[in-house]
Amino acid sequence: MDNYLLPEDDGLPTRTFGIWTTVKLDYLQRYMNLFETSMRGKPWCARSYIDLYSGTGKYQVKGHNNFQLGSALLGITTKHPFTNYFFADKSQENIDILSKRCESAPNIKKKFYVGDANIRVKEVVEELKTIDHNRSKDQWTSLNLAFLDPDGLELEWKTIEALASVNKMDLIIYYSQSGLTRNFENCINLDTETDIDRFFGDGEWRNIYKASQQGKSLGLHRKLIDYYKHKLSTIGYADIKDIEDGAEPLMKNSKEAPLYRLIFASKHARGHDFWNKIIKKDAFGQGKLF
Ligand SMILES: C[S@@+](CC[C@H](N)C(=O)[O-])C[C@H]1O[C@@H](n2cnc3c(N)ncnc32)[C@H](O)[C@@H]1O
Repeated sequence: MDNYLLPEDDGLPTRTFGIWTTVKLDYLQRYMNLFETSMRGKPWCARSYIDLYSGTGKYQVKGHNNFQLGSALLGITTKHPFTNYFFADKSQENIDILSKRCESAPNIKKKFYVGDANIRVKEVVEELKTIDHNRSKDQWTSLNLAFLDPDGLELEWKTIEALASVNKMDLIIYYSQSGLTRNFENCINLDTETDIDRFFGDGEWRNIYKASQQGKSLGLHRKLIDYYKHKLSTIGYADIKDIEDGAEPLMKNSKEAPLYRLIFASKHARGHDFWNKIIKKDAFGQGKLF
């Protein structure tokens, strides 16, 4: 028996991340657990997990020797598994390693895609729509959860729009607070489309940034996240500000500097109820500090 699906060294390569990755993935794991436990008994034609920046399935925490399951394998090993899995990564090597690990779950339906998630997402969405289209009369459309966890600013707004075109699609989105902060100055002076423009899907962030530089507004990232959430509301997502404000947990480094947040989006209030429950605590059992 191999140990590909266990949080142990299995001889295959893993990346090393900071402890904040464990905090991030703990939110995902608890959300998946609640989502799958509550939703599995209903007549959905499928319940799919979509991980477009999947990595290799395992990682090591910097400064520790232990091995942890990454998002893809947390999805596969969740207590009540999804019916379908879609994994993408720009690195062929990552996908080779992940698919090797997934060989230990031969009965689970999974598809792998190599390349830019912002391009390959079209095929994933087509597959998801085909599943919905082919459902039998007594089945509901599929229920889907997408985890979008790039390294920095590689997630484009058009990818969110593509995913949103699927009927029921919850999203957990990596918001690179430090990546944005590092790049504002460079990008604001460029007339060409920048990573930040592609992340937000337009140039409105420039006005929000300029206003904050002139001292006209406080809380630049709060304003930017509210703008992002407003955009989500224009493509079918619940206006999450009305349900709970400040619902984007912040991961910080060992010096307490902000790294990134998770933005949750669902078209249904129920998804937000789940998320609000999840974020009341972090991986270390601490209550919400914001
Ligand atoms: C932070 S890691 C993901 C970690 C993973 N969620 C886990 O828990 O192990 C980001 C991944 O995104 C991949 N990546 C970066 N840019 C990408 C892109 N444009 N399209 C697809 N994958 C990309 C990287 O190769 C890397 O594996």
